[in-house]
This record gives sequence, structure tokens and C-alpha cells, in this order.
Amino acid sequence: MRILFKNGTLVTATESYVADLMVSDGRITAIGTNLSIGTNLVIGTNLSAGCTDNADVTLVDCSGKMLLPGAIDVHTHLEMPFGGTVSADSYLSGTRAAACGGVTTVFDYPMQRKGHGLVETVKSRQALCAPQACVDYAFHCIITDLNGGALLDEFAEAVDYGITSFKCFLVYKKEGMMVDDATLIKVMLKAKETGAITNLHAENPDVIDMNVERFLKEGKTSAWYHYLSRPEFVEAEADKRAVHWAKSVEAPLYLVHMADKEGLETAIAAKLAGHDIYVETCPQYLEFTSDVYKREDGRNFVCSPPIKGQESQDALWAAIRNGTIDTVATDHCPFQSYEKDWGRDDFTKIPNGCAGVENLYPYMLSAANAGRISFSRAVALCATNPAKIFGCTQKGSLAIGKDADIVVYDPTKDFTISVTNMHSDYDHTIWEGKSLHGYPVQTWLRGRLVYDNGEFVGEPGYGQYIRRTSRK
Ligand code: URP
Ligand code: ZN
Ligand code: ZN
Repeated sequence: MRILFKNGTLVTATESYVADLMVSDGRITAIGTNLSIGTNLVIGTNLSAGCTDNADVTLVDCSGKMLLPGAIDVHTHLEMPFGGTVSADSYLSGTRAAACGGVTTVFDYPMQRKGHGLVETVKSRQALCAPQACVDYAFHCIITDLNGGALLDEFAEAVDYGITSFKCFLVYKKEGMMVDDATLIKVMLKAKETGAITNLHAENPDVIDMNVERFLKEGKTSAWYHYLSRPEFVEAEADKRAVHWAKSVEAPLYLVHMADKEGLETAIAAKLAGHDIYVETCPQYLEFTSDVYKREDGRNFVCSPPIKGQESQDALWAAIRNGTIDTVATDHCPFQSYEKDWGRDDFTKIPNGCAGVENLYPYMLSAANAGRISFSRAVALCATNPAKIFGCTQKGSLAIGKDADIVVYDPTKDFTISVTNMHSDYDHTIWEGKSLHGYPVQTWLRGRLVYDNGEFVGEPGYGQYIRRTSRK
């Protein structure tokens, strides 16, 4: 099966140019001008629209469109038990939504628990995911307990299995997910030794607990106090501590969902000094400020770390523009309205997390279309850098030999996000009413069309497990 994408503007992490792109058996096999595929196919620039089938070749007229590598959302929590419930998107609905937003690979976060192994944990989630997956998938593994140290001996096996990143939380104490600094350092060192990297959610748990206790005593229970219990300096302290440990033990570190200026600046300074440190942020931190927690529906925006103030948002955008933020991912972890409502009168009862997997690429590309960043920067942040950092050698760019994970993007198409035009299972979205200029019109996964003009046309189970390569 061959596909010829004709006359599109190809966007890579470094440049944009008009070309044709040929796909054979799910891989990109040629890029050039005036590619032809045999005498019996008429190639024209004015073919009406969409795809024209001819023998074994599908022609996609991309005049006026852009061709981008499929995005890689390296931070999702699908059907994750959390916050007294389970996140609202299953592996099916979450990956279906991903496909419809131009995301062709998701990285989910299985959670290891005391007494359980790494590969065991991942395999049990993989078994759940495989028949449902509408896009390709990889796993980072969350570590909550070292099983008396025995878990460290499993790192090499996990890396061999393609799990080349492990995540620790410095928060979620009462949920039994938090690790102490000694555990974090052990994980960092073992990850480094085995060619893996440590991902980290950094906030200071003791200060959060102290603030929460005080606010509840004082009857301060609205969503605004979620933010005030974990403001900028609470994240900054833990970011700085994490960077300090990573520098001290010379181990790679990937800071997930960074939202605050002070911590960001510390991480960037360490990175620029040559340390192996990477920074991720999320669209919700780029779009909203902490003011959303003053709204009547503030609970719907409750995630951790909370969305910060304008100064932090400005710092995030500056780092997006100058390339010192490495990735934008979603932390997709939606909950239904009735679950968010549990915390109407007590912010501590709100399940933490928001939706975003379908909005990531359209949002960043719309920012590019508005001239806020270049299209190449959007591609770098959402596809090329995630692939490089996390060892997805087949993914992340439009280049010969890579998987044909391709998004056809119409820079003229206007789109307003609503829960009614999303493809997830949740019943509300923080992105409701957001207008975007430019929108993906097709998503191709390994040479197969999975999203076409508003419709999911893929198949659950077509998504494949991505066995990643180690950093060694
Ligand atoms: O609020 C969030 N972010 N929920 C998902 C779990 C996490 O901390 O990443
Ligand atoms: Zn987190
Ligand atoms: Zn997360």
C-alpha cells in the first residue's frame, strides 16, 4: 500500500518547504518535488479534494495544507485510579481523542505499587491498553515503593522491555504515591546506570499539607484555596531541590508539567550549564492563569501543580519561544463533572486533573499560525523533542525511514473547541469556547488514515506498543 501526499508544505523541527511525500508499507520512503509513482496515475495539483485511489496508490492532494509529524503526547493518565475514582478516558476513548487531535503516540503512566514489579506493572496496563489503542503507545512507569530495594534490580529488565523512563512524585502523600528524597536519588542513579531517565512531579508536600490544614480550619474551601495551598514558591522549592539532586549525582532529569517561573529558571540555568535536564510544560499553563480558580467552575481547572499567575505564564512562553522548554504535553487526566463537583464545598475533594490530549497539537499549531511561535517550534515541542528524549527512534519527524505518522493541517480552518466536537468520554472541558485558527484535517498512523475531517476513522487495537531504545 502506497500513499503519495502531493504538494504539501512539510514542517520539520528546523524548516518548512513545499514537497511531495511518499509512503510505502507504513513508512516514509521518499520526499521530493514532482514525485511520481507510475505511469497509470495522473498527478495534478488541482485534484478536487481528499484522497484519490488509483490501483494500489492513494493520492492525497495537500495543496494549501501543511504536513506535520504526528504529535507525541508524553504525559497521559488514561483510566487511572486516582482521586477516589478513575480518570474518565479509557485507553479507547483517550487514544481515539488523541488521533482526532493529531497525536499518533501517547505515553501513559502505569503506577507500580508496593510489592509489585516494574515490568509486571507495565504489562498489566499494556494488556488493558492493547485491544483499545487507536494510536501507538509507550509507558513511563511510576515508582511508589522500592520493595526494600529489590525494585532497583529490575530496572535493566524494564529498560530491555522498552521502559526507559521512571517517574517519581514528591507529592500525593496520603495517596501513597509520594517518595522521599533518598528514594528519588536511588531511582535517579539506577536510571542513569541502566540508560533510563527519571521523570519528576515536583511540589513540596509538607507546605501543601500545612496550608491545606490551615485553610480548612478557617473555612476557606473554594477552588481558589487549591491554588493558594500550592502557589509558585511551593513548586519552586521542589523544582530547585530536584535540580540540585540531579546535578549533584549527575543523573538525567525530566521535570513534568512545569508551571512556575522560579523553578523553570533554575531548571533552565542547569540545562544551559550542561546538565542533562529537560523541561515539560502543558497547554493549560500556557493558556490560563490562577484567576480561573476564582470562577464559579474553578474546580474544573483543579490540577496539580495548579495553574499559576501571569508572571509564570509569561516565563513559560518566553522559554517556549527560545527553545529552553523541551516539550509540551498534556497531563491528560479528565474527570466527569459530578466527580469535580465532589469538591464544590471542599477543594481537597476535587479529583486533580484536566483534559487536553485532543487539544495539544491544535493549540500549539494555532499559536504558530498566530505568529506566537514558528511552526517548526511547535513540531519540535510536540513531536521531535519528545521522540528524541524518550527514545522513539521511529517517530517524531517527517524523514525517510520514519513511521508515516502524518498530520495534514489546514491553516485556514477555524475551529471552536466544545465538548460536543471532542472525541473523549468526558462531559466537560476547560477548553470550551476556545477559538483556534487552523486545524488538523487528517491524521495518518503508520500509513493508515485514522482521523478525517472531524471523524475518527481508525480502529481500536491498531495502535502498537513502542519499545523504546535506551539512552546508552
Ligand atoms: O492534576 C494532575 N496533574 N493529575 C494527574 C496526576 C499528576 O500529578 O500528574
Ligand atoms: Zn503530576
Ligand atoms: Zn500527570
